[in-house]
Amino acid sequence: MTIVVLSDGDSLEQAVQSAVGDSVSVRTMPLATGVNVDADDLSVVLIDGATDLERALRLAHDFDDRRPGVTVVLGAPVSDGVAARAMQAGVRDVLSPGADGDRIREAVKRAIEVADRRRATMHSIDESRENRLIMVMSPKGGAGKTTIASNLAVGLAQRAPKEVALIDADLQFGDVGNALRLLAETNIRDAIAGGLQDVTEVKVHLTPHRSGLFALCAPDQPGVADEITAQAFTKAVSMLADEFRYVVVDTDPGLGERTLTVMDHATDLVFVAATDVASVRGLRKTIDALDSIGMTSHQRHFVLNRSDAKVGLDVADIASTIGMEPDVLVPSSRTLPVSMNQGTPILEMDEPSPATGPLWSLVDRFHADPDADDGHNSGRRPGGLLRRRN
Ligand SMILES: Nc1ncnc2c1ncn2[C@@H]1O[C@H](COP(=O)(O)OP(=O)(O)OP(=O)(O)O)[C@@H](O)[C@H]1O
Ligand SMILES: [Mg+2]
Repeated sequence: MTIVVLSDGDSLEQAVQSAVGDSVSVRTMPLATGVNVDADDLSVVLIDGATDLERALRLAHDFDDRRPGVTVVLGAPVSDGVAARAMQAGVRDVLSPGADGDRIREAVKRAIEVADRRRATMHSIDESRENRLIMVMSPKGGAGKTTIASNLAVGLAQRAPKEVALIDADLQFGDVGNALRLLAETNIRDAIAGGLQDVTEVKVHLTPHRSGLFALCAPDQPGVADEITAQAFTKAVSMLADEFRYVVVDTDPGLGERTLTVMDHATDLVFVAATDVASVRGLRKTIDALDSIGMTSHQRHFVLNRSDAKVGLDVADIASTIGMEPDVLVPSSRTLPVSMNQGTPILEMDEPSPATGPLWSLVDRFHADPDADDGHNSGRRPGGLLRRRN
C-alpha cells in the first residue's frame, strides 16, 4: 500500500506519514512526475496545489482519465469554487494546509477504501472470464490456513453461489470438513479412484455446503494420503478449476510436492503468516524459493494473521523482511476458534468479530461486493489498516 505525494516540498509527506503511521508507505515525488508515478501498489496520490492550483487540477484530471485505479486527494486552501472544480477533476477530497492529523487520517483512509474498491471492481471486470485457482499456504503449521481458506470460500460462495469449490489438500490431517461441519460421505480418494477420465466423476464426490460452495474433503484416515500421487491430486484439482469460477485450495504446511505440483495450475497464492519471527522468516524463505524456481506468475496476496499479537514483530518490520506489504491484517479474535469448533466460518455468522471486516476484504480481492457503495457499507470494510499504532 503506497501513497505518493506529488509536491516540490516535503512538508505534506511528513504530515501524512505522521497521520497514517508506518503501516502505509508515503513517498514524495516532484510534481513534474505527473501521471507517470511508478510505485508498487499505488492507491492514492496527494497532489500539492498550494502554489499552482491550476496545474494541480490539470494533473488530477489526467489521473482521472489515465489511472482510474488511483484515488486523488488535493492539498490546497479551500476557497470559493475550489471544491466544485476539484470534484469535476475527479478529486476525492481536498485537504487545506491547516488540516490536523485526524482530518488527514480520515481523508487518506477514505481515499484508500475508494481505491481498493475501484481496483477490486476493475479486477473483477478484467478477470470475469478467467477462473481462479487460489492456494492458501504457509510455511508453518497452525498459521491459520484452514481458517482463512474456509472463510474465503464461504465469502466467495455468498457472492457467486454454486461457483466455488473448496479443496482440502492437507490429505493427512485436513480439517475442512470440520471447519464447515460437513458430513462428507465421500472424499478425494473416491474422486481419484474413478480414474479421472471425466470431471463429472470428480464432481459427484463433492459435498455441498449450505453457503452454496462445494467441498472436496480429505480422507478420514491419515494413511490414505500415501496412496494419492501429487499428479492424480493435481489432475482432480485442475479439472475442477476448469469448471468452477473459484477453486480455493487449503494446503498442508510448507512446499511439499503436492503443493508445488498444484501450483503449476494456480492463478493466485494467498500467503498466511503470523507475526512471530519463525513464521515471518519461513515466509521469506518460501517466497525466495518460489522466485528461485521461477514460480513468479501468480498473483500473490499476503494475509498477516493474529496481526495485533503483542509479542510479535510489528507490521513495518514484517513488510521489510518479507519484501511485501500485508494485503490483509486479520487480528486475533476468539470468535475464530469458537467458529471453527462449531463448524461455522465467521463470514456466515450474524454477529461480527474484529476479523470479519478483514476477511471480507480478502474476499473483495477476488470478487468485489456488488452492493458496495462509495465507502458507506460499513461492517464489511477493512478496519485495521490505518488504525493508530501504540
Ligand atoms: N486470527 C485468529 N485469532 C484467533 N485464533 C485463530 C486465528 N486464526 C486462527 N486461529 C485459530 O488457530 C488455530 C489454527 O488455525 P488453522 O487450523 O486455521 O491453522 P492451519 O494453518 O490450517 O493449521 P495446520 O497447519 O495445522 O493445517 C485454530 O484453532 C484457529 O481457530
Ligand atoms: Mg489447516
